[in-house]
Amino acid sequence: MTEPSLPAVSSTTLEPRNTRGPRIGVFDSGFGGLTVLKALLPSIPGAHYIYLGDTARLPYGSKSQATIARYAVSSARFLLEQGAEFLVIACNTASALAIEDIRAAVPVPVLGVIETGVSQARLTSDSGDILVIATDATVESHAYSTASRKVGLTALEKACPLLVPLVEEGWIDHPVTAEVVRIYLSGLAAEASAAGLTPDTLVLGCTHYPLLRPVIERTVRWSVIDAAEATALEVSRQLAFVGAVPNASVGKATSRFFATDSVAKFRRLGAMFLGQPIEEVELVDLGG
Ligand code: DGL
Repeated sequence: MTEPSLPAVSSTTLEPRNTRGPRIGVFDSGFGGLTVLKALLPSIPGAHYIYLGDTARLPYGSKSQATIARYAVSSARFLLEQGAEFLVIACNTASALAIEDIRAAVPVPVLGVIETGVSQARLTSDSGDILVIATDATVESHAYSTASRKVGLTALEKACPLLVPLVEEGWIDHPVTAEVVRIYLSGLAAEASAAGLTPDTLVLGCTHYPLLRPVIERTVRWSVIDAAEATALEVSRQLAFVGAVPNASVGKATSRFFATDSVAKFRRLGAMFLGQPIEEVELVDLGG
């Protein structure tokens, strides 16, 4: 099998420096991308993160490609206006359906979460058969199957549309959520067996799902992949490549948060995803 390949770094804005950390825009349709920010925070000294959750237009996962691309591009442009020099699309749906539109619209490097997740699965899977759970739009795009095929893996994808609203509701440990997870994953196991696959790895193909990792791991015996850590490593690698990672003396990373809907809800739910309190969230109107 070939090694996974990730997009090369090319940028006109990132320059070598050691006096300040890079400004990194992190985007998700809602709170899920905070699971990626959580992994990023300790990884690059002095980085300044600008996080946007497009909560007013969430969910992206049930919308068309044209709508997802329009929302994602306007969100990416907003992050650039706030000074972002590198964008992390911490949303599988936007990564699957809009990454090329975003790359065409902004003059900074853009990294999605699909290749990093598949790359991690490639390192984990012995059988070469992997399973992916994601939103409807991500599954219909077959972005995971395409990326998996490129590295010699076979992926079976399943849409789990009830999981995002359950997570957004904060029903992480709720018996209803456990039952929904059980029904989805037993269906997926049956589909894999009917297709003659021997899966050993399950990719969480939506940035909301890492919060459900404990219940998922109680339900199945597959290795579970969350792309957050792999994405953080890849951001560090790409920034180090252009000399944009300062030494630790610049201090800790900082963050600024924006949401397109209720800031109170963002602070309350966001803390659960980020694993630490969120002091301030700024409201932004990106239109419809
Ligand atoms: N967090 C998004 C993802 O990773 C899903 C949420 C949505 O449907 O907007 O796909």
